Amino acid sequence: MTTAPLRIAFITGATSGFGEACARRFARAGWGLVICGRRLDRLEALAADLGPAVPVHAARLDVRDATAVQDVVRSLPEPFRRIRTLVNNAGLALAPEPAPEVSLDDWHTMIDTNVTGLVNVTHTLLPVLIATGRGASVINIGSIAGAWPYRGSHVYGASKAFVKQFSYNLRCDLAGTGVRVTDVAPGMAETEFSLVRYAGDADAAAAVYQGTTPLTAEDVAETVFYVATLPDHITINRLEVMPTDQSWAGFAVERRQP
Ligand SMILES: NC(=O)c1ccc[n+]([C@@H]2O[C@H](COP(=O)([O-])OP(=O)(O)OC[C@H]3O[C@@H](n4cnc5c(N)ncnc54)[C@H](OP(=O)(O)O)[C@@H]3O)[C@@H](O)[C@H]2O)c1
Repeated sequence: MTTAPLRIAFITGATSGFGEACARRFARAGWGLVICGRRLDRLEALAADLGPAVPVHAARLDVRDATAVQDVVRSLPEPFRRIRTLVNNAGLALAPEPAPEVSLDDWHTMIDTNVTGLVNVTHTLLPVLIATGRGASVINIGSIAGAWPYRGSHVYGASKAFVKQFSYNLRCDLAGTGVRVTDVAPGMAETEFSLVRYAGDADAAAAVYQGTTPLTAEDVAETVFYVATLPDHITINRLEVMPTDQSWAGFAVERRQP
C-alpha cells in the first residue's frame, strides 16, 4: 500500500483570525503546517494544540523583513520543504479616518505589510511552489476593499487592489508551471482586524459587528481550503465572499444649496 505524500500549507499571519482558522482547517484534513506570525506565544500555543495530530513548524516572522523571510524558508526542516499551498494572509488595516487625517506612518505600515510583505513571501516561495508543480497554489488574501472604494479605505483598499492585480499577473507568469494563484477577497469578517484598525479600542471594534452577522474566520478558512483542494486543473482567479448582511451603498453626492 502506498501512502499519499504529506501536503504542506505555509500560512502567514497564523496567530489570529483567518490565518489561525486556516491552520485549524488544513490540520483537520491532515495537512502539515508552517505557521508564521510575530507573536511567538500564540504560534507556540497553536503548534501545541495541532502538533499532536499533524506536523507543525512554527516560525516567528515579520513578513516585512525580506531577509527574515528567506531565513525562515531556508531553514525549514525536511518534511516542511515541499509546500503545496501558500496562504498569504498576514495583513492589516489601520486608521479608518479619511485620508487627510491619517499619519504617513500608518500608510507606510499598510504598504510594508500588505504589499511588500506579501511580495517578500511570494518571491521566496515561488521556486518551492514551482518545484511542487501541478496542484500547488498561492492563495492571496485580498479584500473587497481592493475592488470597491469607500471612505476611510485609502491605502488599505489600494494595497488590496495591488493584491488583486499581482495575483492576476502572477498567473500569467506561472503559466505552464501548474501553480495556481487565487485572490480570495472577503468582506466584513469578525476577527482581531477591527481591534487593530481601531488601535486597540475594543468598543469601536465591537461596534463594527453590532446588530449584524459578519463572516467568521472559519467561513473564510473554509473558502481558502476549498480553493486549495480543488482538482489540479481548476483555478479560481478571484473569489469575493461577503456576509449576506453586507452590500454596496452607492455613490456619495455633494449637494449645495441653490
Ligand atoms: N476581517 C476582515 O474583515 C477582513 C476582510 C477582508 C480581508 N481581510 C484580510 O485578511 C487578512 C487576515 O486578517 P484577519 O481578519 O484575520 O485579522 P487579524 O485577526 O488581525 O489577523 C491578522 C494576522 O496578520 C498577522 N500580521 C500582521 N502584520 C504582520 C507582519 N508584519 N508580519 C507577520 N504577520 C503579520 C498577525 O499576526 P502578528 O500580529 O502575530 O504578527 C495576525 O496573525 C489580512 O490580510 C486582512 O487585510 C480581513
